Formats: sequence, C-alpha cells, structure tokens
Amino acid sequence: MTEDKLYEELYQKLNKIMPEAEIRVKAELASQINKLKKEKNAVILGHNYMEPALYYSIPDFRGDSLELARKAAETDKDIIVFCGVRFMAETAKILSPEKTVLLPAEKAGCSLAESITPEDIRILKKKFPGVPVVTYINTYAEVKAECDVCCTSSNAAAIVNSLKSDTVIFLPDEYLAKNVARETGKHIIFPSKTPNWQNTEPATDIDYRLIGWHGKCEVHELFTVDDIENARRQFPDVVVLSHPECSPEVTAASDFSGSTSAMIRYVEEHDAPHYLILTECSMGDNIMAAHPEKEMLRLCSHRCPHMAEITLEDTLKSLQLNRYVIEVPEDIRRRAERAVRRMIELS
Ligand code: 13P
Ligand code: SF4
Repeated sequence: MTEDKLYEELYQKLNKIMPEAEIRVKAELASQINKLKKEKNAVILGHNYMEPALYYSIPDFRGDSLELARKAAETDKDIIVFCGVRFMAETAKILSPEKTVLLPAEKAGCSLAESITPEDIRILKKKFPGVPVVTYINTYAEVKAECDVCCTSSNAAAIVNSLKSDTVIFLPDEYLAKNVARETGKHIIFPSKTPNWQNTEPATDIDYRLIGWHGKCEVHELFTVDDIENARRQFPDVVVLSHPECSPEVTAASDFSGSTSAMIRYVEEHDAPHYLILTECSMGDNIMAAHPEKEMLRLCSHRCPHMAEITLEDTLKSLQLNRYVIEVPEDIRRRAERAVRRMIELS
C-alpha cells in the first residue's frame, strides 16, 4: 500500500482523536516499516493494547494473547516482530524456535510475569505433590517450563475444568484465580500467605480445590467497584466490561468479563448506548477509531507502561537493526513448549 493510501486509511480512523500532522508522521513511519517488513520477510503481530496509529497500520494480525500465540505458531515468515510485551514475544519463540523473534523494546515487562519465579513453583510442587500446575501465559519461559499447562484470559476456566483434577495449582494472578474459582465452583487458598512457606513438607489440609498466588496486574488491580457505580450513576444505561485480571468484586459488578478480544467482540455485537471498558485505555481508543458510532466512556488514569514502550519509531528501529532478539535456552524452551501446546490443543 502506498504511503498516501495508508495516510488516507489512518486519517479516516483517527482524525477525531489525533491532529492531522501527527497522522501524517505516523503514516510515514508505518509505510517505512511495511516496506522493510516485506523486504525482510517478516510478520508483525500486534496486541489489542497497541496505540491506535500502530494498531491500524503495521500488524498483519491483531488480537489477544491466545490468538497471537496461534499466529506465531503458524507463520511461515522468517522474522516475527512482536508488538506486545516480553512474555508474549517469548511465547512466540517457544512455539517457533527456528524464527527470529524481535521485541521492539528492550524490556517491556509485566507485573504478573515478574511476580513468580521457577523456584516458587518447585516449592509449591513439593508442598502439593501430584497436583497439576496451570500457569497464566503472562509468565516468563522458565516459569512455564515448570508447569503442566498454560492458560490465557480466554480459556482459564476451561483449562482448569479440562484437567479433571479435584485440586489445581493456578498461578500467578490472584484475581484471575479468584475469578476462575468462582466460575468453576472451586474453593481457593493462597499458600504464599501461610507461615513456613519454605517448609516443603507435603500439605495435609485438603479443604481447598484451587491453590493461588499473589501476583497482580498493576493496571487492572486499580479498577474499583466505585468506578463502576460512579459511571452507572451518571449513565444508567452504560454496559460495563472488565478484564478477568480485575478483582472478583469488579468482574461481579460488570455486565461482561472476558479477554481483550472477547470484549472487543462484545462491543461490536451489541448495541448499547454507552460502554465502559475496564482495561488498558488504548483498547477503547482502538474500538472508537473503528466504530465512531459507539459511545465509549474514558477511564484512562491507569495505563500499562510496558505496552506503551512499543512505538512505531522503535518498531522501525527493530527491523532496521534486528533488535531486540528474543532467546530462550533450548532445554527451557522445550519444557515450556509442552505446556503452551497443551493449552492450544485443549482450547
Ligand atoms: P489478553 O490475553 O486478554 O489479551 O490479555 C493480556 C494482558 O496482558 C491483559 O492485561
Ligand atoms: Fe501485564 Fe497488566 Fe500490562 Fe497486561 S496490562 S501486560 S497484565 S502489566
């Protein structure tokens, strides 16, 4: 597509939220990226949280973490550029080890991925021998390597149910675990809060069915039931959607809770007068850009600083300089791959 055509398309989508001169600059950058992408036989995957100008100009595929993991597994391109955060790019490398996987930012972390270590899981496995371990995809490869199966926000309850085990270790997101416990009807405990955490004697207490951890998403933990009540007071007809990384109180007070793509589909398929989406704010911008007729209420004080590290400028540099290359040691990759592929098969 020519730069003028790309500018035209971006202008149609973004002219209500971005000055024209800025759209011109973004179109120029995106056009250079798309040219280089073709020359280098690369594919660009863009998470739903990318800012609108990037989201609507360079990704070959957009989606939530499960959808993008599937695309990474299927691609026949030589290079995967992941416009998302590190654990997502690592998952792409786990599934496509022969490809070069690039992350446009050096760090682009995630508070959930940083909340747990492989050693924590090894201790849990000694405390609860034989209990299957489900790990959220928002973790690093060495943590995935210690678990039996991964899950994402779109399949967490289904994966837990598919294990047909009375008790399941579910890590590391406390709120996602509580939401899954409610959905699957399981009791939940948090052994990381119990005394003698380092004691690895097998636990004898069997009055639980889901064993959680105290990781939290630094964005979603900030949304409150007050936010929802305030919005409902002012807009009684508002439909509230929340990501399952929000607290169980917030998801219970919402009209719908689901993965980022599930929330996008919900808004596209319904015809409510107003929507409030409790997740990273860029996603609301992206929906508004594609559907100007939808009234999205803005609650933008909580942003994901890690997703925001991915810019058009750095994506161009990433392709020009072949940076930042994601590497996963082969023994860890192979063990992590088992858990990720098992999830893909089960979903
Ligand atoms: P999704 O899998 O729903 O896209 O969520 C990823 C994420 O990091 C949400 O904060
Ligand atoms: Fe991690 Fe939360 Fe950012 Fe998602 S929004 S990448 S869970 S810190």
